Amino acid sequence: MSNLPLRPGLAGETPYGAPELDVPARLNVNENPYPPSQEVVDDIAEAVRAAATRLNRYPDRELPALRQALADYLAVESGVRVPWQQVWAANGSNEVMLHVLQAFGGPGRVCLSFTPTYSMYPEYARDTLTEYVTLARRQDFTLDVGAVREAIAAHHPAVVILASPNNPTGTALGLDDVRAVLDAARGSGPLDRDGSPTDTVVVVDEAYGEFRRPGVPSALELLADHEHLAVSRTMSKAFGMAGLRLGYLAATRELVDALRLVRLPYHLSAVSQAAALAALAHRDELMSQVASLRDERDATVAWLREQGHTAFESDANFVLFGPFEDRRAVFEALLERGVLVRVVGPDGYLRVCMGTPSQMEAFRTALTAVTQP
Ligand SMILES: Cc1ncc(COP(=O)(O)O)c(C=O)c1O
Repeated sequence: MSNLPLRPGLAGETPYGAPELDVPARLNVNENPYPPSQEVVDDIAEAVRAAATRLNRYPDRELPALRQALADYLAVESGVRVPWQQVWAANGSNEVMLHVLQAFGGPGRVCLSFTPTYSMYPEYARDTLTEYVTLARRQDFTLDVGAVREAIAAHHPAVVILASPNNPTGTALGLDDVRAVLDAARGSGPLDRDGSPTDTVVVVDEAYGEFRRPGVPSALELLADHEHLAVSRTMSKAFGMAGLRLGYLAATRELVDALRLVRLPYHLSAVSQAAALAALAHRDELMSQVASLRDERDATVAWLREQGHTAFESDANFVLFGPFEDRRAVFEALLERGVLVRVVGPDGYLRVCMGTPSQMEAFRTALTAVTQP
């Protein structure tokens, strides 16, 4: 038995880990089921080959080319153009968020979020010694804005995280709600060194933003008027590049510059930068399945309801459904039939992520077999 000085907050903790099982229908971690085409694979391989000739050197620390390409993409996707200095990138939006908590959280500071939500938020807080405070969402998983205002006034959080669309519920927030939170956040952060109140940083996590339904806006539209807003995105979902580990965030230059203080030197490898740039050059092709995945999602919600289940409206690439008396038993029975979903969210519920049409057929067949006597 070792006698290591593990930090108190880590005693008894287990590492983050959704099962990585090799089954025909892996529908548990909200990936895009479509691999890149041969043409994209070739271009990425060529870009990595070129980068490999310079691997004796550290990569570009400020990644201007990549941040410019991401800014260009955001302008096309949401109509909001920001200069590259207002975009930050790191190894997945996981790392981007960790940078946010490293820069603005810390001992004596609070991060506020709204449950049920993404299970990594408490880990970012724990890892930065930030206190994690949660407020429950309403029954339909929207925000009770009045209660949010009160929580902000009570806790003076340094950071508020709003996932929209939220994981695991799929709920997107209206801009009125985001605006209300931003208004409440003004002057509500911790006191600065002179004793004056700061503005709470509000992060809208739009990891699933591209899957939102028509007419659902992006919080990027609010950037120009809110210098305490940050909107994070990822190439892991709609782009189908989860293995690349590339997440990014748009905010003011001042906020991005604060993240540059805490990032490790050369945090994004030359290989990642080259592969991401090559992938972004194919963004239209990589995103071409987004519409069919959205259709699959809406069809899945409708089908689940027809079967008598509750299925929540979703603006993401997954659906929360149930309730089951013993959700663990349903999960296991689906797994026996080669379908891997996720046990997550409120008691009794499961989350299924959209796969290919044949994987979704396998899901429907398995669920019917499992739930109908
Ligand atoms: C809401 C949300 N945010 C962020 C992430 C992290 O994405 P990545 O680190 O792959 O960019 C996920 C991944 O599932 C997520 O569900």
